[in-house]
Amino acid sequence: MAEVILTNVRKTYGAVVAVEDLSLSIADHEFVVFVGPSGCGKSTTLRMIAGLEDTTRGTISIGSRVVNGLQPKDRDIAMVFQNYALYQHMSVYDNLAFGLRNRRVPAAQIDAAVRHAARTLSIETLLERRPRQLSGGQQQRVALGRCIVRNPKVFLFDEPLSNLDAQLRGQMRLEIKELRQRVPTTSVFVTHDQVEAMTLGDRIVVMKDGLMQQVGSPLELYRRPVNRFVASFIGSPAMNFFDVHVTAVPMGFRLSADGIDLELPQRRFAGLGAHAGRAVTIGVRPQHLRLGCTQVDQVGLSGQVMVTEQLGDEQVLAVRVGAGDIRVAGIDPELSLPTGTRINVAVPMDNLHLFDAASGVAIR
Ligand SMILES: Nc1ncnc2c1ncn2[C@@H]1O[C@H](COP(=O)(O)OP(=O)(O)OP(=O)(O)O)[C@@H](O)[C@H]1O
Ligand SMILES: [Mg+2]
Repeated sequence: MAEVILTNVRKTYGAVVAVEDLSLSIADHEFVVFVGPSGCGKSTTLRMIAGLEDTTRGTISIGSRVVNGLQPKDRDIAMVFQNYALYQHMSVYDNLAFGLRNRRVPAAQIDAAVRHAARTLSIETLLERRPRQLSGGQQQRVALGRCIVRNPKVFLFDEPLSNLDAQLRGQMRLEIKELRQRVPTTSVFVTHDQVEAMTLGDRIVVMKDGLMQQVGSPLELYRRPVNRFVASFIGSPAMNFFDVHVTAVPMGFRLSADGIDLELPQRRFAGLGAHAGRAVTIGVRPQHLRLGCTQVDQVGLSGQVMVTEQLGDEQVLAVRVGAGDIRVAGIDPELSLPTGTRINVAVPMDNLHLFDAASGVAIR
């Protein structure tokens, strides 16, 4: 069993709070992704689990053993970094064998572990090469191989794919997923890329300014973001937001702003009651908007096409609604929509998100 448990973990560098009061239980064999913008504390968290940084406060345990006082080498973890950190003067074989030789593992056992890892990652034919004779993706596989030969309790990944081009990143994502099935291991993966987070994580932890914002499965975060920050970070193109003023009307609420006038029923949006007379932020994903007039359980916006982006399988529009622009995705690529075209956009009520305009907290 190798669950990883963080309890009230805090890390400060002088006056800088890198991680604030983080508590999280990662189950045995679970794959957890930390995601958030630059400087939010992802690497610091990972490095504390690895033992490369002390915690200022709180405890970290791996496999029911508190590891705060243990050296990295005694924590039974293996780490992959963005820059791979392969030994350039050694062959791939020796790179893979290095950690085990350091531990004075018998040569026959090392050879078996290296060949097993090479087979798992399809790099058997590259064992005699030097790292500089490999493509970026192959180097990344060697870096993963170094982790596999160690057979650790926990894999830690810090942006391991960010040096690769987009196509290779997609391919390595799949390889990491396949690797999970072949070598199930508790894993913590750090990235600033929400697509990597969504596709790899059993659960995702969204961080901002050292604070955990939300933890949940990819779909939970996509469907029920707890605040505007999570809503804006997960999903691409990003969620549209616009601020409106709330007034109570018979049977419901009117949400209005320049060029926007929506009426929502009381029974489905009871949480708005506490916000009557105030401002709220509406959020709606570009993929959830439809061209055309509103039908049952929809509300409508109207605006003017400003820009169209042709992606081949769809178009994405920027539409001026009142004083702001919203994006509408999933538009038929054949549809001709010159700049200035007036269009109606229908918004399904099920896909409306509402946030307190001041705090950004979701209104349920
Ligand atoms: N050794 C250090 N000394 C002082 N401040 C540090 C140190 N390491 C990190 N920090 C600060 O701690 C905060 C969190 O840094 P961290 O490296 O964890 O961010 P990150 O989320 O990994 O960002 P990125 O996506 O850019 O890698 C930042 O404000 C950073 O400047
Ligand atoms: Mg980092």
